[in-house]
Amino acid sequence: MDAAANPYTPGAGATPVALVGRSSELESVRVLAARTKNGLSARSVMLHGLRGVGKTVLLRALQHELDDHGWLTVSVEAQRDPDARALARQQLERGLLASARRLASRSERVGEKLKAALSTITSFSLSVGAGVSFGVDLQPARGRADSGVLEFDLAELVQDVAPALVDAGIGFAVFVDEIQDLESSTLTALLTVQHQAAQNRWPFYVFGAGLPSVPAVLSEARSYAERQFEYRHIDRLGHDDAAEAFVDPARSAGADFTPDALARLIELSGGYPYFIQEFGHQAWQLAPGPDIITDQDARLAAAAGIDALDAGFFRARWERATKAEQRVMRAMAADNDAPSLLTALVERLHKRKPSDLSVARRDLIAKGLIYASARAELAFTVPHMASYINRRHSDD
Ligand SMILES: Nc1ncnc2c1ncn2[C@@H]1O[C@H](COP(=O)(O)OP(=O)(O)OP(=O)(O)O)[C@@H](O)[C@H]1O
Ligand SMILES: [Mg+2]
Repeated sequence: MDAAANPYTPGAGATPVALVGRSSELESVRVLAARTKNGLSARSVMLHGLRGVGKTVLLRALQHELDDHGWLTVSVEAQRDPDARALARQQLERGLLASARRLASRSERVGEKLKAALSTITSFSLSVGAGVSFGVDLQPARGRADSGVLEFDLAELVQDVAPALVDAGIGFAVFVDEIQDLESSTLTALLTVQHQAAQNRWPFYVFGAGLPSVPAVLSEARSYAERQFEYRHIDRLGHDDAAEAFVDPARSAGADFTPDALARLIELSGGYPYFIQEFGHQAWQLAPGPDIITDQDARLAAAAGIDALDAGFFRARWERATKAEQRVMRAMAADNDAPSLLTALVERLHKRKPSDLSVARRDLIAKGLIYASARAELAFTVPHMASYINRRHSDD
């Protein structure tokens, strides 16, 4: 069918036509906004789950929700980089300036509290924001939030913006994607200041998304992190939601599936959002149409979809690993998609003890390819990675 009208969106962070099955997370954020308006606090949401389940897309939707409520919001994408700390600070400064400008332009009157907030935002953001104006006459609040130490600066920033936000019934939220990779001093600064904010009734919240290891990573950074968030395990979609994720985009573009085609594609996708988008995309491409996708089209899409996933989604991740790491992944694939016991891997790889695998284990975790699913146990972060390895690499 018409490629120009293909409504499916395979790709990291690609906003789907229908954001299916995530209403409870969105509702949580609406409740947070409503409670903030009432002068009450709540917990922010921390999303965790496997690759491709839709965490980035959902995190962005949560941010849009708060943007729509007029909040000050900033997004940060964590990265493993020698300059990670400086990069994170820059993202915070840039995002904050942009969001503060929107806030100032929406405000009918820039009163004293908002002026004080904008002054401290200016001084916090001095390294990227020289010359940025809010359309009002103000000086940076010298000596406030400009020490360069994020934990102190952020605390002062939040303290200084809080009065204006409280008056307006809104808050300030930072959204961090891939939070398991956030540089550690940045992470502890965010957690510490959110903790102080809760004690002082400053409406400041950190939202995040990342791999299944996120709850453990955060608890390790700050023991109280466990209580700071509403943790949400973002998982594959159930049968009805998966059906909706296939059907809604097609219908919005004037097409539909036959029941057997739909059943085949749902089964094949396992309900994983990334796979749904890929198989939907292929089915649309391959169907002669004009407006119905048949089981014959779905069969062809199955083969084409697997090839496309192998060449992109899976291979990109496989090739991130060194040869030695790939050997460990291959040993894990013997368990199919179930977690692997370290002791079993030691045996399969003809090693003597679990610590012989420590380096590969650490580096594969750092690359985001595997995670410690339990003590002495490893699992893939990529759904169906084992099937890919067994399909393509069993005899290299
Ligand atoms: N709720 C949803 N319904 C339908 N499709 C979705 C949904 N959420 C995400 N998708 C689709 O799934 C794919 C993956 O989304 P996204 O990049 O947000 O996943 P992720 O969990 O952040 O993955 P990663 O761990 O690799 O960063 C995209 O193609 C997106 O369009
Ligand atoms: Mg993501």
